[in-house]
Amino acid sequence: MSDSAHEPAHAAISDFLSEERRFPPPEGFAEGAVVSDRSLYERAEADPEGFWAEQAGSLEWFQKWHTVLEWELPNARWFVGGTLNVSVNCLDRHVAAGLGERVAYYFEGEPGDTRTISYAELLADVERFANVLKGLGVRRGDRVAIYMPMIPELPVAMLACTRIGAAHSVVFGGFSPDALRDRINDAAAKVLITADGGWRRGAVVALKENADAAVAGAPSIEHVVVARRTGDADGPTPMTEGRDEWWDDLMAGADPSCEPEQMEAEDLLYLLYTSGTTAKPKGIMHSTGGYLTQVAFTHRAVFDVHPESDVYWCAADIGWVTGHSYIVYGPLANGTSSVLYEGTPDFPDKDRWWDIIERYRVSILYCAPTAIRTFMKWGAEYPDGHDLSSLRVLGSVGEPINPEAWTWYWQTIGGGKCPVVDTWWQTETGAIMIAPLPAVTTCKPGSATFALPGISAELVDDAGEVVERGGGYLTLTRPWPAMLRGLYQDPERYRETYWSRFEGRYFAGDGAKLDEEGYLWLLGRVDDVMNVSGHRISTTEVESSLVDHPSVAEAAVVGAKDETTGQAIIAFVTLRGGQEHTSERGEDLRRHVAKLIGPIARPKTVIFTDELPKTRSGKIMRRLLKDVAEGRDLGDTTTLADPLVVEEIRRLSSQQPTEE
Ligand code: WTA
Repeated sequence: MSDSAHEPAHAAISDFLSEERRFPPPEGFAEGAVVSDRSLYERAEADPEGFWAEQAGSLEWFQKWHTVLEWELPNARWFVGGTLNVSVNCLDRHVAAGLGERVAYYFEGEPGDTRTISYAELLADVERFANVLKGLGVRRGDRVAIYMPMIPELPVAMLACTRIGAAHSVVFGGFSPDALRDRINDAAAKVLITADGGWRRGAVVALKENADAAVAGAPSIEHVVVARRTGDADGPTPMTEGRDEWWDDLMAGADPSCEPEQMEAEDLLYLLYTSGTTAKPKGIMHSTGGYLTQVAFTHRAVFDVHPESDVYWCAADIGWVTGHSYIVYGPLANGTSSVLYEGTPDFPDKDRWWDIIERYRVSILYCAPTAIRTFMKWGAEYPDGHDLSSLRVLGSVGEPINPEAWTWYWQTIGGGKCPVVDTWWQTETGAIMIAPLPAVTTCKPGSATFALPGISAELVDDAGEVVERGGGYLTLTRPWPAMLRGLYQDPERYRETYWSRFEGRYFAGDGAKLDEEGYLWLLGRVDDVMNVSGHRISTTEVESSLVDHPSVAEAAVVGAKDETTGQAIIAFVTLRGGQEHTSERGEDLRRHVAKLIGPIARPKTVIFTDELPKTRSGKIMRRLLKDVAEGRDLGDTTTLADPLVVEEIRRLSSQQPTEE
């Protein structure tokens, strides 16, 4: 970034924060923009199905659909009768159009190694690996589990599944063996694709060892494919004869060409497990034609992508939905050149991101508010001295972005010339639902603004009445192409979770507010789901892993407001008789949760208490605990069985040391 753009940033932020402050699209931005005026909203509103059919028309189909939408709540079928292949849309058609030399991924490994992969090369790898999977017995309709670091083999594995019509289930590499095992078993996956290890802040994450521990309890797995990443850096990789194969060895022996399967639009493309309000993660099902249609459209429109000139970087992990839709499927369907980065923002130093942006001339950056707030904390030294002038559009996702962070992003990173698009969506929605269009929308810092063309969002109150202004529950009033097609093998839970609370509506689980001008402001979850650094974690899941520990009698977990990570996990724990409340015990419990679920679920603080606040009917009052954790007034506690309990907890929590 040039000094002149950087200079005024810190001083000026407070000036930007007044309620009245508006951020219209930067001058000249509308020229040549993907969406350059508001007529698209009107067209889509007048005929939503026609609008989505038009978007689907920009994909390549073997056979065109005969019906755009069949809708019988809660089941939608989009582009019925149409057949297509996702890998063909992401790869073959670009190569056939003469774009084989275009870069698909600029891979940047954490240790600093780089690889540039063109569309033609990516296609060649995908075809080969598709044949590898076939050779291991994977057939159309099977499920394949993937547990990998952020290396190019990960998108290759996903696309190879799509080529042969197998559904993938990617499990984030930070998850524990137990979490991986449960997901494999729920999907009855035949093959697991992993790596020897992944790099994380200079250390090796022992993926293969975790995979082995998971597979020991996952009888459906017939083969494990292991990509080489960390080599023998942390000792030799254990390989089980007859079950485990090295990626390279299999690729060397594989046939180079693989005919794509002609898939029905409604065929299962992938499963992705996400935390809900119970301890059991939900297998979200995504389909082929509708999903690809909406991720391709939203990627193009929301980030104003010009594939011939943009360099796009979504700094998420492919293990989450953001990576599925906006590192793999959306960008590739649009023929975009993307950065794929393996590591963290602070390794080997705090210049890493700005160095990447400068070196690859990144023009579109998409990341989470937690990252932005972390950078703000690092202070004015960063990104000083880096040329960020290539940036054109900045995106935010995963959690509400506070106005301060939005404005810092706009000013310090974007130099005041890049639209900031705050994008609201969920694993279940598959694609972005609420966001500005960069050449069209005047933004307010902290607001995700409006539902995109073709999408209809409304707020309702407890009784399900529509709220025109003020706070309410966020609902979606009609089906959209990328919507989840259900929960894997659990249709009842699907209806119950999303379509039963408010008649005829999809209930997102988020609270939101509509201001006087109709701008939407997301306020966070209203259920027992926490959001830590943009990652969804279920309070119940963390509670079950705490009570799994032999010393714990009872546990209640809440997400408390946190300056950097949005929310932090605070655990209130009652130990079994005779156990001491020591800080070692607290540390032990935090480790236990990390071991059972993964490091992201590790509580920030464990507070020991002899009793938890309960209603007279015995229900734990989490709301009160949240108030305690956030230092709020407790209000009316008369429904409590023993009101003194919270006072005691409040006293204890104010004494409790926290992590860091
Ligand atoms: C939250 C991530 C405010 C929200 C794509 C939602 C957001 C949950 C935003 C889904 C945003 C996501 N503003 N909140 N722009 N984006 N959320 O499934 O609570 O990991 O319900 O999908 O994240 O998280 P998920």
